[in-house]
Amino acid sequence: MDRALEWVEDRVRYIDQTQLPLDTIIIETENYLEIAEDIKRLAIRGAPLIGVSAAYGIYLGIKNFSGFNKEDFINSFKTVSHTLASTRPTAVNLFWAIKEMEKTLNESIKLSIPEIKKNLLEKALYIHKDDIERCRLIGEYGNEIVPYKATIITHCNAGFLAVGGDGTALSVIYKAHSSGKDIRVYADETRPLLQGARLTAWELMNRNIDVTLIADNTAAFTMKKFKIDLAITGADRIALNGDAANKIGTYNLAIISKKHNIPFYIAAPLSTFDFCLKSGDEIPIEERAPEEVTEGFGKRIAPPGVKVYSPAFDVTPNELITGIITEKGIIYPPYSENIIKFKS
Ligand code: MRU
Repeated sequence: MDRALEWVEDRVRYIDQTQLPLDTIIIETENYLEIAEDIKRLAIRGAPLIGVSAAYGIYLGIKNFSGFNKEDFINSFKTVSHTLASTRPTAVNLFWAIKEMEKTLNESIKLSIPEIKKNLLEKALYIHKDDIERCRLIGEYGNEIVPYKATIITHCNAGFLAVGGDGTALSVIYKAHSSGKDIRVYADETRPLLQGARLTAWELMNRNIDVTLIADNTAAFTMKKFKIDLAITGADRIALNGDAANKIGTYNLAIISKKHNIPFYIAAPLSTFDFCLKSGDEIPIEERAPEEVTEGFGKRIAPPGVKVYSPAFDVTPNELITGIITEKGIIYPPYSENIIKFKS
């Protein structure tokens, strides 16, 4: 599969990302509860992909509704969307996609139930297709700031596994590479679930891009020792003032980039912007199970009973962000003035 998720004959097909890079297990389902569970356990992950899969999940959840009563149909839609919305709290693309599906429901409400279902499927397919195009454009705009010979550092996974298309941060890298630039990448391993080691390293190696894996705590020393031209990461939610939530450890990377005079960019589609939030302080941050820190893939590594703090994301303050690469161009500071201009 060259996409993380596909729509095939009335069902979704996706890579179980918990099994990568050692096994490529493909899951096929028409059960929205399975999709919700797979978002929770990170088999489906990455902000835009969570949104795309939730849109398909809503359609799959209402597709077998068999009554004629519209009120019952709407209640069924609400139950399904509530279940999907409860999976993960930080990536705003999830809530954005659910709202898009709700809009289609409301616009179609006078039609027959089979026609509403058809419109909901069309909307989910559109959200997916649109994300592919957004990724492509992010790659194009981002490529403009990549020097001909560039070493780039990234965190977590913002590649094809995290989106409907080719990625956000990695779409920039793929575009720079395919346009003939000499690209080298340092990938942070990304504790505790190792999206950098398991997913980013795997993706980049498959595309023949020169990638070196580093432990997260090696990034500052790597910046001191070698010439790093750019840091680029994805985001899960961006507030109106440019504060950006992304995988835990992104804030560290932004601080050490500043210290070493390395431009720090975020790459994200406009579906990752939360135009209702003034600052990153309002972004809900998911906390994960302590076992993700006390165990390394099934093996206990910390004393039983130890207290654990395990936020899945942190918020990088806007003053550390050089620019935000979107499908409509790059947004530069002052973000409080400029982000709102990108709202469509
Ligand atoms: O917990 P995850 O793996 O879903 O976290 C993903 C990230 O933090 C990504 O960097 C972000 O969603 C951007 S994906 C294009």
